Order: sequence, then structure tokens, then C-alpha cells
Amino acid sequence: MASTLLKPTTHLQGHCSLPGDKSISHRLALLAPLAFGTTKIENFATSLDCQSSLDCMRTLGVNIEKEGNSVAIQGRGLRGLCETTAVLDAGNSGTTMRLLAGILCGQPFESQITGDESLRRRPMRRILNPLQEMGAKISASAHDCAPLKIQGGNLHGITYTPPMASAQVKSCVLLAGLFADGDTTVIENIPTRDHTERILPAFGVPVHREGTRLTVNGCIPLVSPTEVCTVPGDFSSAAFFLAAGMMVPKADLVLQGVGVNLSRIGLLHVLKETGGEIKLRNERLAMGEPVADIHITGIKRRTGKPLQLSGSIIPNVIDELPILAVLGAYLDGVEIRDARELRVKESDRIQLIVENMRRMGLEVTELEDGLQAAGNQEFRGAQIETGGDHRIAMAFSIAALVANGTTEIQDAFCVDISFPSFYEVLAHLTT
Ligand code: S3P
Repeated sequence: MASTLLKPTTHLQGHCSLPGDKSISHRLALLAPLAFGTTKIENFATSLDCQSSLDCMRTLGVNIEKEGNSVAIQGRGLRGLCETTAVLDAGNSGTTMRLLAGILCGQPFESQITGDESLRRRPMRRILNPLQEMGAKISASAHDCAPLKIQGGNLHGITYTPPMASAQVKSCVLLAGLFADGDTTVIENIPTRDHTERILPAFGVPVHREGTRLTVNGCIPLVSPTEVCTVPGDFSSAAFFLAAGMMVPKADLVLQGVGVNLSRIGLLHVLKETGGEIKLRNERLAMGEPVADIHITGIKRRTGKPLQLSGSIIPNVIDELPILAVLGAYLDGVEIRDARELRVKESDRIQLIVENMRRMGLEVTELEDGLQAAGNQEFRGAQIETGGDHRIAMAFSIAALVANGTTEIQDAFCVDISFPSFYEVLAHLTT
């Protein structure tokens, strides 16, 4: 598998736009087929993961036209998906598998979903429990993993408190709730990204919020939004360049049109608290989501305090923890706790972050639910083992920018899972 070589730099400057947000694009790809009318989308994510959502929907009989990042999806109504003998393939995408499972439980036919080797290792009991409680006939392998087998049918509303903070579980239950008799309520102990509850009203389905309770009423017909849906730039992709802006000496970056939904931008707050010179410009709304241009010009004054990441901020920064670990070791140290969920992402991210930090000559302690590393460490160029995990590849590509010597990122193009143009954007900003 192709690797890429990266060299240190002292320069990180320029403007760039990020690909469309992956979480929002998935939700559009999965909801538009259930609506009446055609949903027109601009800046749809370029990621392989979102392509998996579109491909599954095509296999389920949905007409989807795609030209570049513009997508038009012809809805078929709430129960209008078509039965297929093909096994649906969610690829590497946990969001596709878990959200689509909620939808398939409400369709009047039998279906199966599988995924790649990584996805077939990820836990599915977290969605089986609430879906079975709703009356769904869904089963998994002996280890509670994919492939999932579903005999769709009638569902009834439930009130469910997920035992882990997971937007995928919350969204799976709310989407199954679209097909249920009565109301479906999800109670979140710790809030997670709120894109599902923001997007459903755009399809004519109100979501009632009462503190930490979210409720949808079942069997309301979805209607395509009349306006074109323009997907904001992906904050989780922007995060790698924001962290780089804190590490590379001469940084002056403008990241244009980035989604700055509060349930996603914990990293921005962490960077600001660490002395980051970051300004939001041109703040606006797109599809009910806040969007801004983010300008970063490095660090004004080092606070000397380690990054402390634990408790309720964890779901907000869950996808940014690999790059925050790298950043902390470069700045004033880092402690990550309460992040067991990292062990069941596309890889065991705690283990791979620790392994690759050590390969770069950094001292780090692996904890069962996180890690700890001192700050001001010297990074050494190394061979990085990505384990096919896109966020590991990108986090250590940024570490390479401040390392002594050359860094080789193995299986580098796994970045295609979320950010296919990552290396081009990096080259553009560093030359
Ligand atoms: C996502 C939710 C998060 C996140 C993933 C995308 C989503 O997963 O890590 O990249 O779009 O709902 P969990 O909900 O499992 O934490």
C-alpha cells in the first residue's frame, strides 16, 4: 500500500476550503431518499465514507445523480426503498451502518449490511439493544458485529438513554423512530453532535427538545427541502490544520466556510485556552448550521498548562483526540481520560496514537481510557503505522511538520475515508 514522505517545515500559510462535513453529508444521503421530492445538495463530502451511504441508497433503488460535489437525490417516501438481494456494503463507515440500520428496521423487507474488516470488528450491540426494544428483528454475528441481518417491519416508540455518549446511537434510534407508532425519545447524559436533530426539521419532521430529551413523532411524511442544501466545510478536517497552525512557527491560515456547530468545536476552545490566536470571520448560517471562516496566526502567549481532556468535552472532540495528543506533546503536555470509545473507532486509536508517538521518540503513557504525555518533546521523523485509520494518518502527518528528519506515512491514502485532498491541501499550505 502506498506510503508518503513528509518533511518538516517552518511555513504554513494561505487560504483553503475544506470538503463538506462528513456527518451532515451522511444524514442528507440517508434522509433524502425517504422524502417526497428531490433534494439538491452542494459541497457534498468527497469522503469515501459518504460515498458508501450513497452507494447503499442506490442499491436500495434510489436515483442519485452526482457531478463533482453536487448531488441530487430523488426521494421515494418513508417506506419506498426497494428490496435487494445484494448485501449492502457500508465500507469503513460506522455512521452509514448504524444510521442505515435504524432506517432498514422500518422498511417492509429483509436486508443485510456488512462492511470492511475494520467495520466488521466494531461493536453493534449498542444499536441492537434499542432497535430490538422498538420491536425490530435485527441480528448480528456471534460477536455482536456486522454483518447485520434485518427483517424490517413494524416498530413502536421507546424512551432510550444510551449507555455511552454516541451521536451514531442517538441518530439510529431517532431515525428508527420515524417509522414507529407513537413517540421515540432519546435522553443523552452527555450531549453529542446534534446534526440529526437540526436536519430533521429541514425535511418537515419536528424534533422536540426538552433539556436532554429529544423526541420525534413517528410516521410523519418527509418532504425534501425546497432550497439547495449547501454542506458546511468539515470542522474535523479543519482541525488538523488548526493544530498545525499552533505548531509550525510561521503560520497564517484562513480556513473558509467551516461548520462551527458548538457540538463540534471543542478543539477551537482548547486551542484558544492554550493561547491560540484564532478569529472567526464572516459568521453565517447554512442549513441551520453555523458556518465561519477561521483565521489562525499561531500562539500569542504559551500558557504552560497541559491540555486536560476528560468528562463532557470528550464526545465533542472525539474525532480530534489523535491530533490533540500530538499537539499536547509538542506544547505543554496532555492528559486524555474518559475516552474509552477511542478503542472502538476505525482502529484502537489509543493504542495506535501511543505506538506512533513512541516511534517518533516521544514519551507517553497508555491508559485504559486515554493517555498522558509530557510537553515540549522533540519529535523525530519515523515510519508511521496508520492501521488504515484516516485520522491517525492525518494526525501524524501534522506531527511530521515539526519532526527532525523525514516521516513516512504508511498506507497514507486511507485519508480518502474522510479527506481525499488532504495531502494536496497540506502541500499547498506548506509551499
Ligand atoms: C459521528 C459520530 C461519532 C464520530 C463519527 C461520526 C456521526 O461517532 O466519531 O466520526 O456522524 O454521528 P460516535 O457517535 O460513535 O461517537
